Amino acid sequence: MIDRRPIGIFDSGVGGLTVLKEIEKILPHENLIYFGDNLRAPYGSRDPQEISKFCLDIGKFLEGLDIKLLVIACNTATVVCLEELQSKISVPTIGVIASGTREALEITKTNKIGILSTPLTAKVNAYKNEAQRIDDKVEVYQIGCEPLVPMIESGWEDTRKNQELIRSYVDRLPTEIDVVVFGCTHYPIIEEYFIRELKGKKIVDPAKETALEVKKLLKKLKLLNRRDSKGKVSFYTSGNLDKFKYLAEKILDRSLDKIKPALN
Ligand code: DGL
Repeated sequence: MIDRRPIGIFDSGVGGLTVLKEIEKILPHENLIYFGDNLRAPYGSRDPQEISKFCLDIGKFLEGLDIKLLVIACNTATVVCLEELQSKISVPTIGVIASGTREALEITKTNKIGILSTPLTAKVNAYKNEAQRIDDKVEVYQIGCEPLVPMIESGWEDTRKNQELIRSYVDRLPTEIDVVVFGCTHYPIIEEYFIRELKGKKIVDPAKETALEVKKLLKKLKLLNRRDSKGKVSFYTSGNLDKFKYLAEKILDRSLDKIKPALN
């Protein structure tokens, strides 16, 4: 069975491209549609009700493009509306938190993990609840890193001040933790700056595990696109088209065709 319909992927901005990149690697024949809500980013310091409305609009928009699976490539949106989208959108929908937590629990030897995320994801204990549901002995330390998403959206600068900002978050984690999860899909874009401060601690980027979950689910539901040719990838944003293109090309390391406007 061949299902050529695309997979829909969305984030508040360009962060979800880190998930798209892994899906492309693992499922190169699939057609993909990416939506970045750059006009309304960052989500992490917004009211959950507001985020919920944005995400439902995005889910409906992508559903209208005849997607076969919806990936919420945003931790903050996963926290706020995974269940709502699962009940209101007629295609299977997955988020990023469960897969990142699973991987961190598999890797940790000290049973102490750190989560770097947006303030909202930290405040509602998203990773802590998920991790302790699986293992009630695990200790989870969550740090909300407020300004990082807008800084990445406006093009991160390699300055001493920015490196010190990263250090200030990492320094708040207890030394006994051995695994740190990127609880925001934007953070892998500036991974090298975290690596400098994390001094050998393992980093979990939930993107890869999420991509594997997408593959497993498509296989289970018999929705895989088993062609030999490469899948087509389309990009939409609610924000500025040129800015999105510039950042997306840097993140994906290739040139992109037209970026289309939507929901603006
Ligand atoms: N990439 C989003 C996440 O994973 C960022 C959310 C935001 O816009 O604050 O949480």
